[in-house]
Amino acid sequence: MTEASAQRKVSLSSGEIVGPGVQCISRTIGNMKGIYRDEQSRASLVPETLVYRVQTFCPVEEGNEGGLFWGTTFVNPGMVGDEYFMTKGHHHAKRSRSEFYLTVAGAGALILMDESRNTVFEPMSAGTLHYVSAYTAHRIANTGNAVLSVLACWPSDAGHDYDSIARDGFSARLRNINGSPVLVAEP
Ligand code: PA5
Ligand code: MN
Repeated sequence: MTEASAQRKVSLSSGEIVGPGVQCISRTIGNMKGIYRDEQSRASLVPETLVYRVQTFCPVEEGNEGGLFWGTTFVNPGMVGDEYFMTKGHHHAKRSRSEFYLTVAGAGALILMDESRNTVFEPMSAGTLHYVSAYTAHRIANTGNAVLSVLACWPSDAGHDYDSIARDGFSARLRNINGSPVLVAEP
């Protein structure tokens, strides 16, 4: 099924998508077990605290070759120990698939890990455009005090592989060290 894109509107100030067929998922602190370094700090926070939500517009079935999906991720400001509120992070199930991110509001970091487990980050602020290469795990962190809002566009057959990140993690964590975001290698 295809749906006319003109029926949807994306706010260029907030990233909010409005229109038919737009879906939304939320991730709370309670959903983020095992993601942060400091599990004790995470468990001490109110489980219902919203970390991020993702709106998606998927005009074709997930897994279809040749289609595109659109989404906005809203990451709230907050900390778990010295780590910023962030997304779970994933590889694409089909590793050869890439993705675009465009920041519309807030301040953050796109954390990228290649197949050799080299991890880097790109600072995000309104207007920054980020290309997530194929074979690259990705996660976004809110390093500011306001909501970080990021538009994304990715192939409909990319899929999300969360298991490998849940199992092996990223090779480095973005931590607030003396007030600045610093990637610290995992021991
Ligand atoms: O497709 C993407 O890369 C994004 O829409 C992410 O799914 C979104 O940022 C949420 O992150 P995650 O899927 O790692 O929870
Ligand atoms: Mn992705």
